[in-house]
Amino acid sequence: KPDALTLVIFGASGDLTRRKLMPALYLLYKAGRLPRRFAVLGMARTSYDDDRFRTSIREGLLSFVRPDEVDEKAIQAFLSCLHYLSADPSEPEAYAELKTRLEEIDRTIDNPHNYLYYLATPPLLYGVIPRHLKAEGLNREGDGFRRIVVEKPFGYDLSSALELNRIYLDAFREEQIYRIDHFLGKETVQNILALRFANSVFEPLWNRNYIDYVEITAVENMGIGTRGGFYDGVGTLRDMVQNHLAQLLAVTAMEPPAAFDASGFRNEVVKVYQSLTPLTGEDIRHSVVRGQYMASEGRKGYREEEQVPALSRTETYLAMRLELNNWRWGGVPFYIRTGKQMPTKVSEIVIHFKSAPYSLFRCEGGTCPLPNRLVIRIQPNEGIVLRLGMKKPGEGFEVLPMDMDFSYAELGRLPTEDAYARLIEDCIAGDPTLFIRSDAVESGWRFFDPILKYWQDVPECPLYGYPAGSWGPLEADSLVARQGASWTNPC
Ligand code: BG6
Repeated sequence: KPDALTLVIFGASGDLTRRKLMPALYLLYKAGRLPRRFAVLGMARTSYDDDRFRTSIREGLLSFVRPDEVDEKAIQAFLSCLHYLSADPSEPEAYAELKTRLEEIDRTIDNPHNYLYYLATPPLLYGVIPRHLKAEGLNREGDGFRRIVVEKPFGYDLSSALELNRIYLDAFREEQIYRIDHFLGKETVQNILALRFANSVFEPLWNRNYIDYVEITAVENMGIGTRGGFYDGVGTLRDMVQNHLAQLLAVTAMEPPAAFDASGFRNEVVKVYQSLTPLTGEDIRHSVVRGQYMASEGRKGYREEEQVPALSRTETYLAMRLELNNWRWGGVPFYIRTGKQMPTKVSEIVIHFKSAPYSLFRCEGGTCPLPNRLVIRIQPNEGIVLRLGMKKPGEGFEVLPMDMDFSYAELGRLPTEDAYARLIEDCIAGDPTLFIRSDAVESGWRFFDPILKYWQDVPECPLYGYPAGSWGPLEADSLVARQGASWTNPC
């Protein structure tokens, strides 16, 4: 970890900064895990000065940091590291001002020009900021380092992602670019790697010979809240699927990396995306179900949300079947789904193993022989559940499904800092392992882009309504029913 650093946050008066970045930074600060000489320079159009900025961040910390982590002395000390520059990041002139402010701060904290730029802005600015940084020479490394962190969605489709990569690589080297996906910062997502590669029992079974199909679910019980303006131009495919669900797919399906480092891990992620069987129009019609929530039982419909057009066709739900064309997974369907306004908030992966070839016993209320399944719960109640068949005590020989349940909390106190803290710390330390490399962005988009194109070119392609608070359109049930299965709906 460097001794000194200035973190520049573009979009410093926005929601992401208040809700996620500042609480994460505060927790790192409090735990002594930030560089000793540290400053934040927030930049945004809102006309704050340092004091007003600090007051607004303080309010945010009080709302978004867990009460047992609130420590007034630590908050005050943390706030004194924060500075603010009121300027429009889309204007080239703002960057001369930025440079001057950075030099002033460098002098105060004795920083040898180590800068980490964090883009917490609307996606429209993702292509603009690196160009302006370059024009002002703020990308050039001399005695200090320069790194840039950019939020998702990285690109709107394949061609804009290619263009963004071009812009970033024109101003920075790949090792300086940190494309963030906070799902990879989650302890339990990283634990999938430990489960798979720190144990020998699963690996021999982790393939087409023993696995029947895989479900990946990341659903939420909230609507889009006040984010209508952003969300309506994006939709679930760009907001959740192309990034978060694709990461979950990658860690579930990847080969063991040669080494757990930035190239070993990320090479395997790319191979997963490159193995995705491309979807034809016919596949998209049959294997992708999109939906939009409708008003139900006191919950608003999507089209009634603030800043959402009354006839919007933006999807808030997506379920799809995909396959990987490789030796490990050939023929094994992966069902993924995500949606807003579902009955609960849960992210989990369910590995369905093939049944034993023949049943010697009777099974209570279920298919016999009982198929084993492994549930990897990412959130909440983080843990792992292995379903086994066990003899029912007493007369006869009847088999019951029993869950062997491991709760992640048993490993000790769950880390209080969230995914953002972990990832910010990695950027500061210069470790890009858990960030998305340019080739992963491109190979991911190559797979998902035809779906967006198809929806655009075939406007009659259905967008199914589903009642807010339900498990999504019934058509998604038919998707897995073809497999003779049903979705595992967690309670
Ligand atoms: C964000 C999406 O990236 O992830 C949101 O933009 C979504 O729409 C959120 O709600 C879900 O993340 P988490 O960590 O709360 O599951």
